[in-house]
Amino acid sequence: MTNRENGAIVETRDLVKVYGDGAQVRALDGVSLRIAPVEFVSVMGPSGSGKSTLLNMIGALDRPTSGVVIVNNQDVGRIRDIDAFRAQTVGFIFQMHNLIPTLTARENIEVPMRGQPFSARERRRRVEELLELVGLAGRMDHLPNQLSGGERQRVAIARSLANRPAIVLADEPTGNLDSQSGAEVIALMHQLNHELGTTFIVVTHDPAVARQTDRILIMRDGGIVHEHTVGTPFEEDLAAFRRSGLGKAILTGDESALVQIAPDELDALRNLLKDVA
Ligand SMILES: Nc1ncnc2c1ncn2[C@@H]1O[C@H](COP(=O)(O)OP(=O)(O)O)[C@@H](O)[C@H]1O
Ligand SMILES: [Mg+2]
Repeated sequence: MTNRENGAIVETRDLVKVYGDGAQVRALDGVSLRIAPVEFVSVMGPSGSGKSTLLNMIGALDRPTSGVVIVNNQDVGRIRDIDAFRAQTVGFIFQMHNLIPTLTARENIEVPMRGQPFSARERRRRVEELLELVGLAGRMDHLPNQLSGGERQRVAIARSLANRPAIVLADEPTGNLDSQSGAEVIALMHQLNHELGTTFIVVTHDPAVARQTDRILIMRDGGIVHEHTVGTPFEEDLAAFRRSGLGKAILTGDESALVQIAPDELDALRNLLKDVA
């Protein structure tokens, strides 16, 4: 299941992606990362920072200019049957659910199972299981336009799991949903992460979504500029705390300094610490 050398299920080494011939865009500028099995990782960063490009390289939707991607112990650049890899090892969820409008929920979920060695009966059973799992057993014969945005995204989640991939890559899966449906979709992913042991990598702009994941990778200009393990204080927050009068007083145990803290500094600190879980 994992990279034998270090236990990672996804690893990139010095990954570079340059688009274009003339005016070139360096979309990824040497990204090295490791993701552990069953980890739930979020990727944040401004538009154009390379988040989608990174996901596309990990899922072999596109080829890197240089560098290595290892997924589930396979060097993606050397895989012979890339279609089988895409179908079996990774599942994708996109911002716009990308369901086929003329196919029912059931038929959409069956799409990635085509070409896989399942009997019609087995396929049907698995689709029903998946619909049950995402809470849509009663909607299997609905077309996408007969479903709410949240329901469509749940069909897309079921489809991404059709071949029981080890890893699901989700590119802004809640970007088009209201906050309630978005929260339900994320809750479902967490449930699947726990129940099926699927590794999730989710691009999001929503800090509330990111805070529910194990680790946040923050990208800028094609690189990972910061990494935050959820539940530990941000390094910057800690540094600011150390610089502040109150922080210094607490860290040095200087009680007389504590009473001299100005109220506006206390407010600033309160804001600073609010987000530190
Ligand atoms: N197919 C493409 N051709 C040319 N440039 C691209 C292509 N895809 C992405 N880019 C460029 O690469 C950079 C990173 O894009 P992207 O990975 O989509 O960022 P993000 O998902 O963080 O918004 C951007 O400058 C974008 O314009
Ligand atoms: Mg993107």
